[in-house]
Amino acid sequence: GKPIRVALLGCGTVGTEVVRLLIDQAADLTARVGAPVELAGIAVRKPNKHREVPAELLTTDAEALVTTDDVDVVVEVIGGIEPARALLLSALRAGKSVVTANKALLAEHSAELFEAADGSGADLYFEAAVAGAIPLLRPLRESLAGDRITRVMGIVNGTTNFILSGMDSTGASYAETLEEATRLGYAEADPTADVDGFDAASKAAILASLAFHSRVTAADVHREGIASVSAADIAAAKALGRTVKLLAICERVTHDDGEGISVRVHPAMIPTSHPLASVHGAFNAVFVEADAAGEMMFYGQGAGGAPTASAVLGDLVAVARNRTHRGRGPRESAYAGLPVRPMGQT
Ligand code: HSE
Repeated sequence: GKPIRVALLGCGTVGTEVVRLLIDQAADLTARVGAPVELAGIAVRKPNKHREVPAELLTTDAEALVTTDDVDVVVEVIGGIEPARALLLSALRAGKSVVTANKALLAEHSAELFEAADGSGADLYFEAAVAGAIPLLRPLRESLAGDRITRVMGIVNGTTNFILSGMDSTGASYAETLEEATRLGYAEADPTADVDGFDAASKAAILASLAFHSRVTAADVHREGIASVSAADIAAAKALGRTVKLLAICERVTHDDGEGISVRVHPAMIPTSHPLASVHGAFNAVFVEADAAGEMMFYGQGAGGAPTASAVLGDLVAVARNRTHRGRGPRESAYAGLPVRPMGQT
């Protein structure tokens, strides 16, 4: 088929991995999509700082790149509200499909983005925005769309889970463990968004919107961070057979005036027998409860260049398939991959 042309906005840790995967897996992606998936351009602020990607693709004119006729899909990995918001609105209004990893943007402006997408019939996919590599948003939005989800509860911030797990295993203080996490590169130089729960709150808003088919923004989320969790709190939890986790909890609640949803992020003591208690280090996991399906848990790497790029590429394949053959899933040609080896021949 006709090549699917991709504009990449941003080329940091995730963007660099997206470029690498697009180049390394070009032949496999072509087979899976039914058409070549090609990079049309990469918008960055400082082109001379990106020697690891093909120089001829770099541009500083992001607005021109997202609206050119030469582009079918826009992948955004800049992060933050502006200029990402304005660029994605331009792209969607011009009928380009959008794949984004931007949790803050979706947690605040998803209504506006979806309106723009609906107006032009473009796709808007954002699997990488919550829990990195873990397939979670598509299961909530599609696989469980026929069920009634009652609760989504998870560890969606790796930095804080690394700190709380560290405090639990060493008995060290919050300040000492945060310092260690920063030294090892798990926590950012400015850890506020993680330790104060802003990052998890954005993710909770996105999860609640999908799980309950509602419009939930970050401002609707009750938020408490982990800065006041002490070594004594962790020890007291331990004595009760519990462990402290920063949880994002989205659930159906019933009040006198009817049903609603509660969305919150706060440290919680959970029994060590709960599946979420065994999620250590920077890993993420999300526990989902639905009427017909029962309990499920999604577990994996929630951050990092390659894991996040995996989710971005998955979305890219999905929106590309929507363009090549209206999303009917893989065609027969997609199965021309590896041969099965009989036992004994390996
Ligand atoms: N700062 C985030 C975390 C990165 O620690 O989980 C992934 O969104």
